[in-house]
Amino acid sequence: MPNIDNPTGKTLAQLGVTRPDQVSPFFADLRVTFDANLALVHEETEWKMLRDRWLARKSGVLTLITDNWLKPASPDLKRAVGAGLNELRSHVESQIESRRAAIETGADQSALTRDRIDLSLPGVTRPIGSHHLIRQVFQEIEDIFFSIGFSVVEGPEIETPYYNFEALNIPEFHPVRDDMDTFYLDLPKGAPSPLLLRTHTSPMQIRTMEKQKPPVRVIVPGKVYRRDNPDATHSFIFHQVEGLAVDTDITFCDFTGTIEYFVKQFFGPGVKTRFRPSYFPFTEPSVEFDVTCIFCGGTGTAAGGGVCSKCKGAGWIELFGAGMVDPAVYGFVNYDAKKVSGFAFGMGIDRLAMLKYQIDDIQVFFQNDVRFLKQFP
Ligand code: FA5
Repeated sequence: MPNIDNPTGKTLAQLGVTRPDQVSPFFADLRVTFDANLALVHEETEWKMLRDRWLARKSGVLTLITDNWLKPASPDLKRAVGAGLNELRSHVESQIESRRAAIETGADQSALTRDRIDLSLPGVTRPIGSHHLIRQVFQEIEDIFFSIGFSVVEGPEIETPYYNFEALNIPEFHPVRDDMDTFYLDLPKGAPSPLLLRTHTSPMQIRTMEKQKPPVRVIVPGKVYRRDNPDATHSFIFHQVEGLAVDTDITFCDFTGTIEYFVKQFFGPGVKTRFRPSYFPFTEPSVEFDVTCIFCGGTGTAAGGGVCSKCKGAGWIELFGAGMVDPAVYGFVNYDAKKVSGFAFGMGIDRLAMLKYQIDDIQVFFQNDVRFLKQFP
């Protein structure tokens, strides 16, 4: 920055100015100096230095002019100095202000440029997950039953013994309860009823019939819990789909026809099915439903020879329990057992998925291993 202190640090008398016409060249020089200073200012720190040099209250150039030129000036010179000073002040102040605005806008502009989003760039692609195989199988089953007039209902995983057992015709001390030896919740003393993790989706038969008069056609997908030791086909958490159809004229033929339709849709037309007599306290008659072993094609012999390990040589694999609703159950939901009839079934979804997708260990459903999950996108 040129040395501008010299003239303003001296009085006009020291500078040899005695006539008004000698004043204006000094102001003209100062203006040139200021403009040269201004031309070098591009950012905030430089701007602050310029402002302080020219406008600082104590030692800025304009203050020095006031103190050294104006105040001691003789009356002859005062007018010319005052006019020159005012003109210079207004030039300096307006230029400094507009440079401040320019620097600020420039900073805004460069921030805008820096932050601008380029929409033409490829985005960051995040891997999209997929439904778990069990969820996919639920969906397949729901679609099949939707197509023949069933709807879906869901119910609580924490149940009372009344819905899980008693209303299903399983009184206290019935031996069937041993098969379902289950998880009870620790409750505070005085709780109105014990609570347990449901052992099957069948309690929803009762809850649905309590709410709805016949005709009833529902399926109930959901999680169930049993104190079973984990192995290749058992887990203590697993999944079931309950089915219930009740109306005034439902027969055993409707039941077998529905189940066979489902199995052919789910596994394909090649699979053979059979019913075996069984026992459930809430169905009469009760059946177990088997399909031909998809691993050995129903021969009982493994591909490389020897006994098929999946069906243990039987050629059949048990799929689920089912039957015609026991009339005793209708008594718990105020249905007239003389007027209505129906069927119910309870499928183990994990086992259905294992059979259909040839998975030989149920535990993989619960391990969240992405190498397994990725095979079922
Ligand atoms: C029942 O749970 C009855 N509620 C089914 C039923 C419903 C019968 C309506 C009649 C009318 P069961 O205990 O057999 O039945 O279980 C049904 C299916 O759940 C079994 O066929 C099997 O596929 C599956 N399952 C049972 N225990 C386990 C387990 N620990 N791990 C995985 N799947 C299991």
